Amino acid sequence: MEAGERKKCFLKQRQVLIFFVLLGIAQAGSEPRRYSVAEEMESGSFVANLLQDLGLEVDDLAARAPRVVSKGKKMRLHFDRQTGDLLLNEKLDREELCGPTEPCVLPFQMLLKNPLKFFQAELQIRDINDHSPVFLDKEIILKISESITPGTTFLIERAQDLDVGSNSLQSYAVSPNSHFHLKLQDSSDGTILPQLVLDKALDREVQPEIRLTITALDGGIPPRSGTALICIEVLDINDNAPEFAKLHYEVHVLENSPIGSQVAIVSARDLDIGTYGEISYLLSQASEDIRKTFRINAKSGELLLTQELDFESIQTYTLNIQATDGGGLSGSCVVFVQVMDLNDNPPELTISTLISEIPENLQETVIAVFSVSDPDSGENGRMVCSIQDDLPFILKPSVENFYSLVTNTALDRETRSEYNITITVTDMGTPRLKTQHTITVLVSDVNDNAPAFTQTSYTLSVRENNSPALHIGSVRATDRDAGANAQVTYSLLPPLDPHVPLASLVSINPDNGHLFALRSLDYEALRAFEFRVGAADRGSPALSSQALVRVLVADDNDNAPFVLYPLQNASAPCTELVPRAAEAGYLVTKVVAVDGDSGQNAWLSYQLLKATEPGLFGVWAHNGEVRTARLLSERDAAKHRLLVLVKDNGEPPLSASVTLHVLLVDGFSQPYLPAPEAEAADAAPTAPLTVYLVVALASVSSLFVFSVLVFVAVRLCRRGGVGRCSVPEGPFPGHLVDVSGTGTLSQSYQYEVCLTGGSGTFKFLKPVIPNFLTKDEERVSEANPNFRNSFEFS
Ligand SMILES: *[C@@H]1O[C@H](CO)[C@@H](O)[C@H](O)[C@H]1NC(C)=O
Ligand SMILES: *[C@@H]1O[C@H](CO)[C@@H](O)[C@H](O)[C@H]1NC(C)=O
Repeated sequence: MEAGERKKCFLKQRQVLIFFVLLGIAQAGSEPRRYSVAEEMESGSFVANLLQDLGLEVDDLAARAPRVVSKGKKMRLHFDRQTGDLLLNEKLDREELCGPTEPCVLPFQMLLKNPLKFFQAELQIRDINDHSPVFLDKEIILKISESITPGTTFLIERAQDLDVGSNSLQSYAVSPNSHFHLKLQDSSDGTILPQLVLDKALDREVQPEIRLTITALDGGIPPRSGTALICIEVLDINDNAPEFAKLHYEVHVLENSPIGSQVAIVSARDLDIGTYGEISYLLSQASEDIRKTFRINAKSGELLLTQELDFESIQTYTLNIQATDGGGLSGSCVVFVQVMDLNDNPPELTISTLISEIPENLQETVIAVFSVSDPDSGENGRMVCSIQDDLPFILKPSVENFYSLVTNTALDRETRSEYNITITVTDMGTPRLKTQHTITVLVSDVNDNAPAFTQTSYTLSVRENNSPALHIGSVRATDRDAGANAQVTYSLLPPLDPHVPLASLVSINPDNGHLFALRSLDYEALRAFEFRVGAADRGSPALSSQALVRVLVADDNDNAPFVLYPLQNASAPCTELVPRAAEAGYLVTKVVAVDGDSGQNAWLSYQLLKATEPGLFGVWAHNGEVRTARLLSERDAAKHRLLVLVKDNGEPPLSASVTLHVLLVDGFSQPYLPAPEAEAADAAPTAPLTVYLVVALASVSSLFVFSVLVFVAVRLCRRGGVGRCSVPEGPFPGHLVDVSGTGTLSQSYQYEVCLTGGSGTFKFLKPVIPNFLTKDEERVSEANPNFRNSFEFS
C-alpha cells in the first residue's frame, strides 16, 4: 500500500475511533464497536487503538489484561498489551471470508479482567480491487446458422469478479467486428448479462468462423479486466447451388473408342459444405440413345462410354448434365459430343446386273452394273474402283458411284474362254480399306473358226493288189471352236476330173477322217490319183475347209516279163539266119521283152537256159542280145534251138522263156544280110566293139522310129474320125498306161509327146519325172484328155 493511501487510511481509522469513543460514551455495553480494515493488509497491520474505546490507560493494561475473543479457532486479531493497538494476526482476504456478502464484518469480543468486562466489537473488512473479472470458459463457442436474421441476440456466459461493490464487474466490451455488437442487460439480481446482437447476416461461404474477444471490466481504480475468446462457427445452410466450371463443354471422340473410355470430365462446385456441398452428377433429360451410350460417374463427374460410338449412325450428342447437392439444389451444363469418323467401314459393292456369259466377237458389251458405297465420311468415304490391267475390260463410271463393266475389245473364246475379273474398291482413309469382288465371265463360242486340216495336202501310198476296204490313211482337221461348232465331219468332194471314178475307189469315215480303198488297186492301171476331202463343222452356219489327198499306188511284182520279139505264138516260128563265116560275137538276134511293172520289178535280165550246142551262142544278160561265142565251123549243126529265160528283179522274180531258132547258112545271100551287118562287115574286124556299138545304136534308133511311127499312125487314125483306135487288150483300160516297160530303158526316162491340135507338129520329148500333175499340166490334159503325162501305146 502506498504511503498516501496508508495516511488516508490512518486518518480514517482515527475518525472511526473517535466515532467509537463517542458512541461508547453514549451507549456503553450495548452497541458493538466497529472497526474496519482493508483486506489483504499484511499480518501485524494496525487496525485501531482500543485504549480509548475500552476506557483504559496504558498503565491499566497489564492489570486488566484485555484480550480478543472470537468464534472459531482462528485468531485473526490480537491485542497489543503494550500499546493498546488491535493488530491483524494474519492477512485477511475479504473474498475468502465473506464472498459476495457485503459488508464483510468479522465480529469479535474484547474481554477485560478485574473487573470482568465484556466488550462487543466488529471488524469490517473493506474490499480492495484485487480480483479481475474472469470468464470461466476461456473460449466460448457459438454455433450460429448463416440463415439467422440480423437482430437476433445470443447470450454470452458472463464473467465472474470476486470483488464486490464498485470493484465488481461493471461492463463488457467486444472486439471490433462487422457482424456483432454487444448489448448489456441488467438482470434482476443486478448482474450484467452480455449479449451479442447480430448486425449483419452471416455467410459461411465468405467467413465460416468469426473470432471475437470479449472483455469484462470491473469498476476498480484502476479497473481490472478479463477476456475470453468467442468463437462463432457459422453453420452452413444449403444456400449455394452447384455451379459448373463451364456451362458448355465440347469434346471430340473417335468412333469405336472402347467401352468405358472417358469422354469428358465435368466438374461443378458447391460452396456449401457437408451434404449441402456433396454433388452428384446425372444425365438429365437424356434420350434413349444417350442413356445407352453414356454413363456419368455420379461422384467424379467422369463421362464414360457404355457402348461404342458409330459415326455412321449418330454424329453428335448433346448431353445435359445436372449436378445436385445434398440439399436438392442443382445446376446443369451441356456437353456437346462430336463423334469423329474413323475409317471403320470398308467400301461396299452391290452388283445390280450381271451377265456371266457373253458370246465372243461382240463389241462393247456391258457385263455388269454395280454401285459402290462407303458409309464413312470425308476421305474415309472417298472410293477408287479398279480392275486388273491385263484384261480386255474397262470400268465406266456412270452416275455417281455407279459403274459399268464393259468389254474393251471383242473377245475371242479361242484365246481365252474365262475371265476372272476382280473389282477392287479402295477408300482413301487411313488405313485404306478395300473390298474385292470377283466376277467370272465365260465367253461362249461363236462358230468363227473353220475346221483346219493338219496338212494342206496328204500323200498316201498303197500297195497295189490291196484287199478291198483297206485303211489307207487318215486326214484330220481340228476346229478351234467348241461344242457343235467344233464337231468336224469329213467328206469326199466331187472330183475335179470327172473321169476318176472316185466313189468306187475310196471312201472316208465322216467322223474320224479315215480313208479306205474300196477296191483292189492296180498300179499298172492307175499309178496315182488325187481328190479333195472336205471338213465341215456343225455350227450354224457351218464352216468348212478342204485338203488335197494324193494316193500313190505302189508297184507289186505282179506282171511277168512279156517277150515282144520274137513272137512266141506265131504259127511259123521265125528263124534267125547266121552265116557260117560270122566272126565270134556276131549278133544273131535280140530278145526284146517288156514288163508291166515298174522299177525293180521291171528290171529284166536275160539268160540262156538251154542250147542244142552249148558254148556256141551267148545271151547278154542286160540287153538280151544273142551273139555267137566263137567262130563257126563246118562241123556245127545247121539248126540250133536256144531257150532264153527273161527274168525280172521283183521279189519273188517272175520270168518268161522264149525259144529261138537259129539256122546256120553257108553262102549268105543278100536278102538275108541285114543292113547293119553290112556296116559291121565294113568295120575293121579288129574292132568288134565298135561294130557292136553301131549295131546297138541302130537297133535302138530303129525301135524308136518304129514307136514314133506307131504313134503317128494312131494319131492320124483318130483324127480321121475312125473313132478310138483299138488299143491292146490289157488289164487296165484307161488313159494312164505304163510305157516304161521297154526293158532296156530305165523307168526314169519317160517321154512326153505333145501334139498341138491341128498343127501336126511335135513339141518334142520333154523328160518328166514321174510325178503328179501340176496345174499347168492339168490344164493341158484337160485340153487334150488323151495325152496326159504319158503317151498312149497302141
Ligand atoms: C477363276 O476362278 C475360278 C474359281 O476361283 C477358278 O477355278 C478358275 O481357274 C479361275 N479362272 C481363271 C482364268 O483364272
Ligand atoms: C500272138 O500274140 C499276140 C500278142 O498277144 C497277138 O496279138 C497275136 O494275135 C497272136 N497271134 C496268133 C497267131 O495267135
